[in-house]
Amino acid sequence: MDKDMLMWDETIFRDGSVLELDHLPDHFSHRETQMQSLMYSLRPALRGMRPINSLLSGPPGTGKTTTVMKVFGEMKKHSENVVFVKVNCQMDSTKFAVIARVYKALFKVSPPASGVAFRKLFEKVMNFLVENEKTLVVCLDDINYLYHEGNADDVMYSMLRAHEQFPGAKVGVIAIVSDTGKLYQFDPKVNSVFLPEEVAFPRYAYDELQDILGRRIDLAFFPNVVSDEVKDAIVGYVDMTGDLRVGIDLLKRSGLNAERRASRTISIEDVESAYENSRLLHLGRSIMSLTPDERTLLELIAKQRECQTGELYKLFHEQTGLGYTRFYDMVNKLNDARYVSTDFSGKGTRGRTRIVKPRYQPEDILKCLE
Ligand SMILES: Nc1ncnc2c1ncn2[C@@H]1O[C@H](COP(=O)(O)OP(=O)(O)O)[C@@H](O)[C@H]1O
Ligand SMILES: [Mg+2]
Repeated sequence: MDKDMLMWDETIFRDGSVLELDHLPDHFSHRETQMQSLMYSLRPALRGMRPINSLLSGPPGTGKTTTVMKVFGEMKKHSENVVFVKVNCQMDSTKFAVIARVYKALFKVSPPASGVAFRKLFEKVMNFLVENEKTLVVCLDDINYLYHEGNADDVMYSMLRAHEQFPGAKVGVIAIVSDTGKLYQFDPKVNSVFLPEEVAFPRYAYDELQDILGRRIDLAFFPNVVSDEVKDAIVGYVDMTGDLRVGIDLLKRSGLNAERRASRTISIEDVESAYENSRLLHLGRSIMSLTPDERTLLELIAKQRECQTGELYKLFHEQTGLGYTRFYDMVNKLNDARYVSTDFSGKGTRGRTRIVKPRYQPEDILKCLE
């Protein structure tokens, strides 16, 4: 019997649960400044005052959501009259879904799934806050998924001006934008009331990734499962994307690869083959949130690699039967969510001709669409 072989009832994972994506780490460093900033903005709520609104921005996997969860956890200990709600806009991507999430947090039951308007639920939520003298702190996480059809502007506007319609209502908004490029511009009417404290989340530096991933490895695996060499390789991969979520997924998949080989240690090859999948994790998860028509459109764009909106519309219409307005909205949504880029061609003076290109490798998009 080879004692280097893992037995069927043995495992290299000391605690695999710390590699799940919704795991909230006990130890959270390198984000002290951001945590402080958010705490200061929310602190007025503990004294019955309206909190300062915040805008958190930075690339995916830089600790934005975790920061909010940590701060909420800390503040909940000191504040009976504040209700903290985090809405994942990737999951709840309509106005109704957002307010339904808040409603559920307050009333502990879901509102009826149909036949109730946003306004109606909003009214119930605000009346509840006023009557019970509660302050609402609502985090709209990954608000970029609400950008289409003016949803983000509508939700923000309603929340930010709630006190005008419901005197005494106290609402603080934390908007989280996952983005690397130019930030979305809210509608001017939103900007006139949204003067947030801005908190930036830069990519983690190499040594920060090393520290964070090192800790996670120590918790997740038994000693000596991950050699220094393998650890460096993992940190190197994560440093390329800058996305810690990719890193944590990579640890999990590498570990599973090693177990599949009945090995007591993770090899470089285990990491390499895991990386192929982890790299696409982010893209795949966000593509899942698109509607079937949007996916059709994205697929066409990936297959064409580069095309003018005119040609693209023809193909899209043939396949879906949908009209130009819907098409136009969807192209804008894919652009806003940074799946594709759209640039005016400069050719022709007729105005609206744009060149549409995928921002990812077309093969990667097609693989995630499968
Ligand atoms: N400073 C940190 N220390 C430990 N784990 C972290 C840290 N920052 C992020 N993580 C982990 O990385 C993953 C992604 O973080 P998350 O807060 O979801 O990023 P974002 O919301 O910016 O996309 C989470 O699983 C989280 O536990
Ligand atoms: Mg997040």
